[in-house]
This record gives sequence, C-alpha cells and structure tokens, in this order.
Amino acid sequence: MSVPFDQLDGEIWFNGEFVPWKDAKIHVLTHGLHYASSVFEGERAYGGEIFKLREHTERLIESGRILGFKVPYGADEIDDACNELLRRQGFTDAYVRPIAWRGSEMMGVSAQHNRINVAIAIWQWPSYFDPEQRMKGIRLDLAEYRRPDPRTAPSKSKASGLYMICTISKHAAEAKGYADALMLDWRGQVAEATGANVFFVKDGVIHTPTPDCFLDGITRRTVIELARRRGFEVKVRAIMPEEMEGFEECFLCGTAAEVTPVSEIGPYRFTPGETTRRLVEDYMAEVQPKRMAAE
Ligand SMILES: Cc1ncc(COP(=O)(O)O)c(C=O)c1O
Repeated sequence: MSVPFDQLDGEIWFNGEFVPWKDAKIHVLTHGLHYASSVFEGERAYGGEIFKLREHTERLIESGRILGFKVPYGADEIDDACNELLRRQGFTDAYVRPIAWRGSEMMGVSAQHNRINVAIAIWQWPSYFDPEQRMKGIRLDLAEYRRPDPRTAPSKSKASGLYMICTISKHAAEAKGYADALMLDWRGQVAEATGANVFFVKDGVIHTPTPDCFLDGITRRTVIELARRRGFEVKVRAIMPEEMEGFEECFLCGTAAEVTPVSEIGPYRFTPGETTRRLVEDYMAEVQPKRMAAE
C-alpha cells in the first residue's frame, strides 16, 4: 500500500487559508460526513495548467446550489486558490480536488445554519501516456445498480452521495477481475461508467447517451467538440444495451480516465480502432497548455 492520502506532504487550501497537509482535519460530527451534504470536483493539471478550470469551478458552485447551499467563495477566488496551490505544491501534472461541505453547527437532516466549508487538495498524478498500452482497452462488467431517475436524486450535481452506488458497483466489478462497471439508467438505457462517460463507434459514426440523468462530463463535451472538429458525426441519443452488440469501438472519457478504450462490456466485445485512437491523441493534445502548443 502507498502512503495514505491524509499523510501526504505539502499544503491544503482550507476555508481561505493554506494549512499544512496533515492539519487539514474536520470533526467526526460533520454534516457532510453523516448526510453526504457535500459536492466536489476532479480536475487535472497538465504542464502546470489546470485544464478547463473555470468550467470545473462553475460546476462546483452549481452543484452546491442544487444541494441548496451557496459556496462562500466566488469563481475567481476558487480559481486563484487552485492555481496558487498548484504553484505551492510545485507540480506540473497533478490532480486537483476541490470540495464543499456542510459543517457541524446542526446534526440532523435539517442543516439550515451549517457553515459551508471549502477545501482544495492537489496531489501528483502524472498521465502515463503509452498509446499502445492504452489501445488494448479495458474490460467492464455490467453494474447491478442503475443511475437514478432525476426525480429521485439531484443528478446534475457532482454530489458525493451519488457516488455510493458507484463505489459499490466498482468494487463488485473489481472482485470479478474487471476494471470498472457500466451502469444503465433507471429506464434500462446505457448511462455511464462509475466515474466516466461512455462513447461507441459504428460505421464511422460516434454515439453517446443523452446526459439526462448522469453527469454531462467536461471531458465528454470536449471529446464531442474534438470529434466534430475532425468531421465525425456525433449522435447524442438514448442507447439500449442490446445495441452494444453492433458497435465496433467503445471508449470511456473523464478527467481521471482521459480517453480510455474499452474492449469488453459484459457479453459485448469491441476492438479499439482508428476513431478511438484519433480521439485519444486529440484529447491529449487538447489538454496541453496552449502556450506550450504555440512554442
Ligand atoms: C460519475 C461520473 N461521470 C462522468 C464523469 C466525467 O466528468 P468530467 O469529464 O467532467 O471529469 C465523472 C468524473 O468526474 C464522474 O465521476
């Protein structure tokens, strides 16, 4: 096992201050811990710049709003804190984790007067990019849990509580030797993996499910734009699981996953091919800081 995350080095931005990593603690009686009243982001820095930082920050603020709270910092302040922390941590390729949560003032379902806390942590996470290794594709199980009806959960929010079924599903898949699990939605349509969106390719056309009950990923939107720029037709639509039989290629995408080819989902088989390869490469080029690309 590597060093636990609470024992890494450096600093954490905690409610407006930079504090030593090991001192960034909260009490056990924290509403966010008991009732999942927390929202977070996952961002990546490449070459010393956080990719699409403002979009992530805006989603964090919007996620809080959906849960009924106001993140007590503006987008400029949060962006500045992320950039300054990246500089202080001294990393160029890293993962950025902002989180906002309800504090300890009230401990019940109602938490009208709880302070909204915000913290940002950054740890080193280089993107080990070996296209040949990546093109082999990962194997996915079919998850038992389904993405909930938006009338049952705030599915547009990147809320911690929505990850409960993701961890259960990912653990179940890993226990069977799979890398991850594909989740259907409450209607039985293809939704997403436990922490990434899904795409398929057939006859040169790209298909991806409509994000009406799961996260419309920032990477997903980037990949759609890159694909269209390349001249690919991208169809955003409801996809039934049986259709996977006819798809030739499949890939996942997300901040952490980047663009990851898939070779298998339950009984369905895919062969990562040229369309996927092109988008893997286009995405890796897109995330590089533009000042470097211009050099
Ligand atoms: C459940 C889920 N879906 C999709 C995504 C992809 O989102 P993004 O591309 O904004 O990272 C993520 C990653 O944050 C996720 O956790």
